[in-house]
Amino acid sequence: MRKYIVAGNWKMNGKLEDTQILASEVVNMYKDEVNNGVVAVMIPPFVGITEVQRLAKGSPLHVGAQNCHQEESGAYTGEVSAPILASFGLEYVIIGHSERREYFGESNALLAQKVDQVLRHQMTPIYCVGETLTEREEDRHFQVIEQQITEGLFHLNADQIQKIVIAYEPVWAIGTGKTASAEQAQEIHAFIRDLLTKRYSENIAQEISILYGGSVKPNNAAELFAMADIDGGLIGGAALKSRDFIDICKAVPA
Ligand code: PGA
Repeated sequence: MRKYIVAGNWKMNGKLEDTQILASEVVNMYKDEVNNGVVAVMIPPFVGITEVQRLAKGSPLHVGAQNCHQEESGAYTGEVSAPILASFGLEYVIIGHSERREYFGESNALLAQKVDQVLRHQMTPIYCVGETLTEREEDRHFQVIEQQITEGLFHLNADQIQKIVIAYEPVWAIGTGKTASAEQAQEIHAFIRDLLTKRYSENIAQEISILYGGSVKPNNAAELFAMADIDGGLIGGAALKSRDFIDICKAVPA
C-alpha cells in the first residue's frame, strides 16, 4: 500500500537558531503526539541539512533537500548535486517546485534529468506539478498537468516510477491562503493516477503517493487527506510552525 507522507518545505527560511528551535520542537512533538504511521519529512535549505539531521537523529523524521543539479559533479558554482546529497544521507529531494519552474526557468525536460539523477543516487524525488491561475481560468489545467507528468516522468520504466512521489500544487494556492477545495484537488489527483494507470498499470498507479500542496493548514488538512487519491501534503508556510506541522501530520488517517 502507498504511504501517507507529510513533507515540510521550509523554502528560503531557517537561520541557524530558527532551524534548531523548529527541528527540535518538531522532533519532540512528533515523538509525543504522532502515532498514525505518517512519513514526515523536514526539508530545510541546503546549509541547514546537517543540523536538522543531527537534531532528528534517532527519531522517525526524515530529511530532504529542495533541489539538486542535473549533473554528477563539475564546474557549476553555487549548485549541489544528487551524489553530494546522497552522501549526506538524504532521502527525499523536491524536484520542479513551481518556484523553481517560474523563477529559475526549469523546464519539464530539465526536470526529467534531475529526476534521473535523484533516482540514480537512491533517493526519492518529490516531483511537483501544478497549473497557474490563468491556466485554470482558461480551462487548460488538465493539459498542463498531463504535459508536466508526461515530459517529466514518463521516460521512467516501471521500476523507477514506483520510486517517485508526486506533489500536485496549484500555483494559485501556494502561499496565498487559497486552498483548492478537497474536491478540486481530488479531481486532479485522480486524473494523475489515471495517467499513471494508462502509461504503466493499475497496480503501479495505486502504489504511488500523490501529495497535495498549496495553503495546507491544520484546519483543512484532514478534509484533504480523507480524499481517496490524496496521500498527504507538501507544506510550505505551515511547516515553519512546529504546532501546525505536527497537527497536519496528525490529520493523516490512521
Ligand atoms: P504553502 O506552500 O503551504 O505556503 O502554500 C506550499 C509549497 O509551496 O510547497
